[in-house]
Amino acid sequence: MFKKELYVFDKDKPVKAIIRTYSQEDFDQLIHIQKKCFPPPFPSELLWNKEQLNNHIKLFSEGALCLEIDDQLVGSMTGLIINYNKEHKHHTWEDITDNGYIRTHDPNGNSLYIVDISVMPEFRKLGLGKWLMFSMYNIVVEKKLERLLGGGRMPGYKEKSNEMSPEQYLNAVVKGNIKDPVITFLLRCGRVPLHIIPNYLEDEDSLNYAALMEWKSPFVQS
Ligand SMILES: CC(C)(COP(=O)(O)OP(=O)(O)OC[C@H]1O[C@@H](n2cnc3c(N)ncnc32)[C@H](O)[C@@H]1OP(=O)(O)O)[C@@H](O)C(=O)NCCC(=O)NCCS
Repeated sequence: MFKKELYVFDKDKPVKAIIRTYSQEDFDQLIHIQKKCFPPPFPSELLWNKEQLNNHIKLFSEGALCLEIDDQLVGSMTGLIINYNKEHKHHTWEDITDNGYIRTHDPNGNSLYIVDISVMPEFRKLGLGKWLMFSMYNIVVEKKLERLLGGGRMPGYKEKSNEMSPEQYLNAVVKGNIKDPVITFLLRCGRVPLHIIPNYLEDEDSLNYAALMEWKSPFVQS
């Protein structure tokens, strides 16, 4: 069971938030959040269903976190443990997360892998996504894992794809010449890009590319 209480600031106004493990009673709200956070052209069949959510709490409840403000859920983040090695270089979201059903969860693995993160549009830019990410870093440390990993969508890439390759786009975001809604967020959360993965996820805005991004535990040298 994970529970953290904190305040974020909406301009100068403190807003109380709770980050906690989600349970069955939260499923309807979690599905609602997904619909709001991944609008078309994102494929609706990739949004959570109750069977997937049940697996998250059954197989690895510590990696099933939601964000609550005024008794309403406004965000969530889900992870599983994998035994990460070089063979995973060109994995897909579908393979590594078992299409979101996380039956690939390996309690003896070395890395926490992020299945998804989302914050409701009207609650963005308050620092809530970052607190969710930091909560997952807490779990990496508590479980003595080596790292947190995940494929970051790059939804700004489609617009720039006539001008540059996905690698050049990622470099431009890292240099600060371009801001990407997801990759810039991940950089600001302390995640470091490893490489581009083609055909990661059906995601029109990113032209199916993702940037594999890591946070290494400062306590475990791998
Ligand atoms: C990505 C997402 C979770 C960010 O949530 P959030 O609560 O708005 O993020 P935060 O307020 O914690 O932002 C943390 C940092 O990232 C920056 N950031 C957040 N969104 C950003 C954006 N769209 N562009 C540039 N920077 C951004 C913030 O400025 C902040 O920087 P700081 O810590 O230096 O002040 C949210 O935009 C979202 O749900 N997007 C849709 C779902 C999605 O694509 N998820 C990613 C799946 S891989």
